[in-house]
Amino acid sequence: MRGLFIYYSFSGNGDVVAKKMKELGFEVRKAESSFKLSRKFLPQMLKGGFSALIGQKPPLENYNSDISNFDTVCIGSPIWNGRLASPVNTVLEKTDLSGKKVVFILYSGSGFAKKAEEKIKKLYPDAVIIHLAQPKDNPDRLLKLEEI
Ligand SMILES: Cc1cc2nc3c(=O)[nH]c(=O)nc-3n(C[C@H](O)[C@H](O)[C@H](O)COP(=O)(O)O)c2cc1C
Repeated sequence: MRGLFIYYSFSGNGDVVAKKMKELGFEVRKAESSFKLSRKFLPQMLKGGFSALIGQKPPLENYNSDISNFDTVCIGSPIWNGRLASPVNTVLEKTDLSGKKVVFILYSGSGFAKKAEEKIKKLYPDAVIIHLAQPKDNPDRLLKLEEI
């Protein structure tokens, strides 16, 4: 086993990343949250964007935080309002990443997320950050994951 990939996905980009990570030999865990976004664009942006802005930590459902079997832990997050998706804040609160090789895999519309990257660098200075723009529509970008 190469490591563990823990991720959240609202609209499937994270699931495409997870499929590739599985192919690369990682164990995969999807974080599920009772925090739900509307399928309608505007309410979705307002709720998700605000939640990310204030750093909310919505509850996770049946989250397994035991990472003791893994040396490498990859965390996958969509970008909401330039920041980590709020369920990923809860993942980070519940998971002790100290002593692990940590890789963040971010997926977003633009491929940029200054605020998210600043937060990651502050909390996990040694973490590697891989940022993919819409991997669901651009599967060739998944090749970057082979560098982990
Ligand atoms: C609430 C919300 C806010 C978003 N904010 C941004 C943003 O600030 N920058 C960006 O590039 N993409 C933004 N996006 C697009 C997502 O980051 C992008 O579609 C990502 O691949 C979604 O991952 P998922 O399909 O696994 O949920 C936002 C999407 C949502 C739902």
